[in-house]
Amino acid sequence: MPILFQNNFQHAFPRVNELQVSKTAEFLLALAGRSDAELSILLVDDQHIAELNKTWRRKSGPTNVLSFSLTEGEDLTRAGNLLGDIVISVDTAAREARKERISVHQRLNVLLVHGLLHLLGYDHEKSDSEAERMFRKERELLLELKRKRREEMIRLAVNVDHVATLRQARGISEPDPVLAAGICELAGAEGIVVHLREDRRHIQDRDVLILRQTVKTKLNLEMGATQEIIKFALKLKPDMVTLVPEKRQELTTEGGLNVAGQKKKLKNVISQMNDSGIPVSLFIDPDSRQIEASHNIGATFVEIHTGRYSDATSEEETEQEFELIVAAAEEAYEAGLRVNAGHGLNYVNTTRVASLDTIEELSIGHAVMARAIFVGLDQAVREMLGLMM
Ligand code: PXP
Repeated sequence: MPILFQNNFQHAFPRVNELQVSKTAEFLLALAGRSDAELSILLVDDQHIAELNKTWRRKSGPTNVLSFSLTEGEDLTRAGNLLGDIVISVDTAAREARKERISVHQRLNVLLVHGLLHLLGYDHEKSDSEAERMFRKERELLLELKRKRREEMIRLAVNVDHVATLRQARGISEPDPVLAAGICELAGAEGIVVHLREDRRHIQDRDVLILRQTVKTKLNLEMGATQEIIKFALKLKPDMVTLVPEKRQELTTEGGLNVAGQKKKLKNVISQMNDSGIPVSLFIDPDSRQIEASHNIGATFVEIHTGRYSDATSEEETEQEFELIVAAAEEAYEAGLRVNAGHGLNYVNTTRVASLDTIEELSIGHAVMARAIFVGLDQAVREMLGLMM
């Protein structure tokens, strides 16, 4: 079932995950019972699709998708394996995605389904009943895609540091981050994250030691690469560690690790952890140099810092930062790294990041705890999971 994929979209943003589009097309062909078919997909910009629109449909301006059937109304069974071409304007798809507040890839999926159905003989311009038939099929295929995505759904790891922050403010024993972690897991979180800081301002050694015994999903220990904490981690053996830059004066982790600037030191920490069976994730900004360095020194994961995206104050800045995350996640994924993301994600900005197929897991703390104060922790986790589907 070959997909002939050509990406003529030459602009830097948005970056399209070609593998993902091809895989989606293959899945759709299989759903439509045409696994045998050949399909050509061409991604272009607005200028290119406007020319095609003018030449073939006598319409001016760009459009989102055009289908060119090789059978042109003949009996489809005689078309053999060649279905035809789907041409998509990534510029228009990106504009539509922004308007609908979904990712470009989600929009590309809708356009792919629409274009494919035209090639399979559906035509919404023929009559009302044909339009209804096509839109019904469209909904059906998109639902199947969604179901598939849910099966491959990105995981939520909840950071319970802030429960400890509240406890430390009183200097007593509650609220207990260990109890909070259990509630998060029961609500569907698939990982618990704690940052054992050098100054022990929130999470304490006792918390991590108990969590090591009680967490049923995955315990991710966030830490600075200092001798004392490295020793602690090697003894504890969490399911993974995430190395972060740590400054005493900061309120929370501010920027990503400068991996490129301390390759030797971090490589050494990674090999010590790996020798003890602990995979290492490096918390980095969405930056090619850091991804390359992380790959070169043998990290298993990178966690892409979503802080600048979350803190963006204009739509334009949000888009730019989002595209940096998309590109970084894709680059890391293609380099063979496993990809997580987090920092500053909340109930408004998470869905788009969760829609990226290159990312395995999101690490979220503050927003979940802030909501939990009003609706309870169980519900806060479930609501966040609902946004990630
Ligand atoms: N990932 C890392 C590496 C972090 O340091 C933090 C903050 O502790 C988070 C994710 C979670 O960030 P937030 O609390 O803003 O959701």
